[in-house]
Amino acid sequence: MIYIGNAKNLEPKYMRLLKCVEKELACSAHDIEHVMRVYNLCLLLSADEDDIDLDVLKSAAILHDIARVKEDSNKSGRIDHAILGAKVAKKLLAKNGYSEEKIEKIAHCIEAHRLRGTIKPKTKEAKILYDADKVDVLGAVGIARCFALGGRYGQRLYAKANLRKYIKENTISGSGRIKDISKHTPNLEYELKLKHIPKMLYTKKAKKIASKRMQIMKKFFSQMKQEIEGKI
Ligand SMILES: [Fe+2]
Ligand SMILES: [Fe+2]
Repeated sequence: MIYIGNAKNLEPKYMRLLKCVEKELACSAHDIEHVMRVYNLCLLLSADEDDIDLDVLKSAAILHDIARVKEDSNKSGRIDHAILGAKVAKKLLAKNGYSEEKIEKIAHCIEAHRLRGTIKPKTKEAKILYDADKVDVLGAVGIARCFALGGRYGQRLYAKANLRKYIKENTISGSGRIKDISKHTPNLEYELKLKHIPKMLYTKKAKKIASKRMQIMKKFFSQMKQEIEGKI
């Protein structure tokens, strides 16, 4: 049974896509609620932009993480869920009667949504989806997602690490992907990736939301550091 939550007002064609995505999403950091938060953020960001194809944007938002589980369950590190997701989405969209032109536009949004992906967003819709997906890793939700993922991979709550040494030893150069996710921690994720996100966004509105969300993250990780070090 699909958990529809805030998806209950979706038009039937998007609900059909969402049902196909549901079984491809497993963890609480990348579940159907993440998809719907991204969907809603896409609508919020698009309200400030002109000439947005909302059909492209809505479909791409729903399908963007369709290959997430396939990447997570593959230990080779060679599956990129953005690239694979675009391929999977193309087939699904064709089955659902989308035109060739729409399919290409939606596929581009999906292949370009990854933070350090090889394909960069070229269209307005792709930039909005990219921004919406990144905004969802920030703020209180971002903190919650970090710890949800940490628990899933048996991570420690906190690691005091020499960042340069850590990057050298535990990340794949070029892609920046983590080699051993179980040795990663939420505070390292914050230092390595999350705090740099606001300057990597495209739309004005996303930058504004991101800077607000960063305030709580900064405060949270700084308080956590002090508590871990026994200072408060
Ligand atoms: Fe993704
Ligand atoms: Fe996502």
